[in-house]
Amino acid sequence: MKSVASSSIATTIGIMFLASVTRISHRGVAAFTSTSSRSKSIVQLSKSSAFRSTSSLFAEGGGRVSAAVQDKNVLDKTNEKTNKKKQQPKLNTNPPKGTRDFYPEDMRLRNWLFDQWREVAKQYGFSEYDAPVLESESLYTRKAGEEVTQQLYNFEDKGERMVALRPEMTPSLARMVMAKKGGLPLPFKWFSIPQCWRYERMTRGRRREHYQWNMDIWGVAGEEADAELLSAMVTFFESVGLTSEDVGIKINSRLVISEILTELGIPPEKFAATCVLVDKLEKVPLDAIQGDLEEIGLDRSVVERLTSVLTVDSIEGIREVLGEDSEAVKQISNLLGLCKTYGIEDWILFDASVVRGLSYYTGAVFEAFDRKGVLRAIAGGGRYDKLLETFGGDPTPAAGFGFGDAVIVELLKERNLLPSFSSTGVDTVVFAMGPDLYPAAIEVASKLRKSGQKVDLVLEKTKKTKWVFKHADRLGAKYCAIIGTEEFENEEVNIKNLEDGEQKKVSVTELSSWVEEQAN
Ligand code: HAM
Repeated sequence: MKSVASSSIATTIGIMFLASVTRISHRGVAAFTSTSSRSKSIVQLSKSSAFRSTSSLFAEGGGRVSAAVQDKNVLDKTNEKTNKKKQQPKLNTNPPKGTRDFYPEDMRLRNWLFDQWREVAKQYGFSEYDAPVLESESLYTRKAGEEVTQQLYNFEDKGERMVALRPEMTPSLARMVMAKKGGLPLPFKWFSIPQCWRYERMTRGRRREHYQWNMDIWGVAGEEADAELLSAMVTFFESVGLTSEDVGIKINSRLVISEILTELGIPPEKFAATCVLVDKLEKVPLDAIQGDLEEIGLDRSVVERLTSVLTVDSIEGIREVLGEDSEAVKQISNLLGLCKTYGIEDWILFDASVVRGLSYYTGAVFEAFDRKGVLRAIAGGGRYDKLLETFGGDPTPAAGFGFGDAVIVELLKERNLLPSFSSTGVDTVVFAMGPDLYPAAIEVASKLRKSGQKVDLVLEKTKKTKWVFKHADRLGAKYCAIIGTEEFENEEVNIKNLEDGEQKKVSVTELSSWVEEQAN
């Protein structure tokens, strides 16, 4: 009992002592002025406030003593609590399946990736937008049998509305465009980095939430928009050190399927569902999706004809099948020509089997892939000129792509292209060697921060210098600024360069010039 009470007193006195020291040198601004008289008054004031706090702790009915200290049965109660705790089931510390925690180091990686995406988006004149992660379920209830609509995280909210966590951004973007009732000046180029939710089967690079860089151009019907998007994608790959030997971008046009369906007399209503089905054929054999086939009323022979055309892997081959006047061929040739003009032809290849799994694509479709063939699609997109109409809006041409964070990080790790994220970015750790020097440390930290440095001030006054150096090392800091009594007296700070071990004393009034020197 006694020891509990006396250690509490000691701690409280310590805390109040330090608090009063901090208080009298408000924000530490005057901490270094008229040193000797100040040190004296600090000690005097501190002593008197510490003294006052001691008596108030014991004041009967004073209300400042903690219930634990007053209660004679405190130890028994503590035991009771620990016993109860033992019986409680332990918290499962894993995040929900398929989701991720982002500890600071993961967060630094994520922010780095987002910065690269943002940088490229801005370089290409795109503006950032956002939308809620929760949307009406109806925004996604398309009937073409897409995986994405089957993987919805949907539920009824407390107001009995059916809502869903967005599985992708494109429908939200269309809703936002429509909400402006034609009031948005076209064309526009917008980008966003939403978190998307899909109840997916987990595989490498596929999870139940992911961040997806979206780049979209609305109001441009020509392949110029598609080519600009592809060029932005390549610029990103180059910015992170990937080459066309690591990554390729397959392109195709859904017009190929559309023209074959027309030739076979299949009505246009079946177009979207057929594209979704053809996309599935990439992953599963025809027999496995026999049911889906029957559901959309497609003859097996139609699908066989489609698959035979879609295995053609050259534009000349498609030209032979569809003829010289084919719109699909013209579109793909034009896009390939534009890619050449952008100088990105090494990255681009025509592949008629690429269809993408979303029902709303109408024209060009593209998919970035790992040339080694180990990872799943890195990014995907295409033209979706009719999406707004499906929501009851005016026909408005649009094209874009989505680029997930998971696969690209895997790829960059594999190719050793990720920078290190162990450093916190802190420039200087500031440390006072004694509690009475703490106000001076606040002043030093404030000056360094105002001069543009990222500063970690050691907040605990009991730490030893050895601990501080270890701590600075863990943070990846470049400098340690230490304030001892001698430095304090001379209005200086001892700065150690943690990279080369050099130490130097810098006058407090010259801290901002020192920061400038280090930056150059
Ligand atoms: P998507 O093909 O469904 O397209 O997804 C685009 C990219 O998002 C994929 O290539 C992949 O990088 C990433 N991704 C998708 N699902 C997952 C997942 N479960 N885990 C990790 N990454 C994933 C769309 O979403 C379209 N809305 C893109 C778009 C924008 N089209 C036009 N504008």
